[in-house]
Amino acid sequence: MPKLKPDVKRFDDPSKTLDGFSYRRGELYCESVSLSEIARELGTPVYVYSQNGIINRTRRLQKSLEPLEDRAGIRFAVKASSNIHILSLLTKLGCGADIVSGGELFRASLAQIPPDKIVFSGVGKTEEEISRAIVAGIELFNVESLSEVELLNVVAQKHNTNVDIALRFNPNISAQTHRHISTGLKNSKFGLTSDEFWAAVTMSEKLPRIKLIGISCHIGSQITDLRPFRRAWEQLLILAKKVKHITTLDIGGGLGIDYQCPIESAALEDYGKAIVTFFKSEPYKILVEPGRSLVGPTGVLVSKLLHLKKRTNRNIAVLDAGMNDLLRPALYGATHGIFPLRSRAPGAKSIVCDVVGPICESADLFLKSQPLPIWGSDSIYALGCAGAYGMSMASQYNSRGRPPEVLVDRDQYRVIRRRETNLDLVNHEL
Ligand SMILES: Cc1ncc(COP(=O)(O)O)c(C=O)c1O
Repeated sequence: MPKLKPDVKRFDDPSKTLDGFSYRRGELYCESVSLSEIARELGTPVYVYSQNGIINRTRRLQKSLEPLEDRAGIRFAVKASSNIHILSLLTKLGCGADIVSGGELFRASLAQIPPDKIVFSGVGKTEEEISRAIVAGIELFNVESLSEVELLNVVAQKHNTNVDIALRFNPNISAQTHRHISTGLKNSKFGLTSDEFWAAVTMSEKLPRIKLIGISCHIGSQITDLRPFRRAWEQLLILAKKVKHITTLDIGGGLGIDYQCPIESAALEDYGKAIVTFFKSEPYKILVEPGRSLVGPTGVLVSKLLHLKKRTNRNIAVLDAGMNDLLRPALYGATHGIFPLRSRAPGAKSIVCDVVGPICESADLFLKSQPLPIWGSDSIYALGCAGAYGMSMASQYNSRGRPPEVLVDRDQYRVIRRRETNLDLVNHEL
């Protein structure tokens, strides 16, 4: 094997970036279940989540928002992790949902999320989706275009009812994050520019079925610094004071997590505290739409080494998980840490390699020049921080069934989604 220098950090300590995962006697555990046991029982690749990690993170945010009492509400961004068992867990903790499609509305209702805790965001809601959400009796539509205000009025009229809306304002703020997840700049497709916003206010006043009660904003995702949030909130407050009858401010999601230490992102408590400080003396109900920060660090993707290949200038480790299972590295150049399931396997050799998946795309690359301990045919790893935008973005590309999902609660685990079979791949075509 070529001897190469690593150019990325080592990921020795899962507890620095993950919630609910740790080494015990050299074996990687999720809570009190060994990941090797899950891999043995269910095969790989497999997503594994820590139930108590999710509970802890959600409670930490809730606790930090307590000074706002019932004026603050969490509306979990379903797109981050849409398994109905995870949604149902969050429901029991008191969260509502931020949805962006009719499919997410369906999932939210299966998870028994109370409709009056569901907000509907998204730039392209269809008439049918709007109609279903009206029938369900959701809390709020976050409106992103003038024509959407008109469409909402027409559909509400058909149902002989009124709809509560918030106007999603585009504050033209850089979230200092990856361009694919930056949503608050004036040329982005999201939200209403200042001119559109005021036109939508005038339009809402004239349309009989529209009740403009809120203003919303979401400037992007994986934001590790609180300053862009504060800049957006300042603008929300200015607008709220100029528009009549505003009762609700939806401040979106976007708090980042540490995918690799030592990137220090603001903690959930810092974020909650900043919200409280900013809005405490204001009269509004504050809705927050976190996704990644609640579930990202509570999940891993467990994957086995299939082959080790040698090139003149690099080694290549081929895993059985690919970009269809975890898209973030290919889509955003994201770095997910890699943790061997056995940290002290006898005879393990650390080899610097590019860690790739089996998909027929050069973009199917998880890590470059990563020191990887290899100890034989059962070398299995956990790709870290895969609890958000992991399974929810997974596809069947290359005709690969999506992996199962497992939820661990202390020393028990249950399969909350089974592995897709070959029949699942073709079912809609037969
Ligand atoms: C409107 C909206 N709200 C909330 C979120 C959740 O963001 P995050 O997972 O970064 O908290 C997103 C994510 O893109 C979003 O588009």
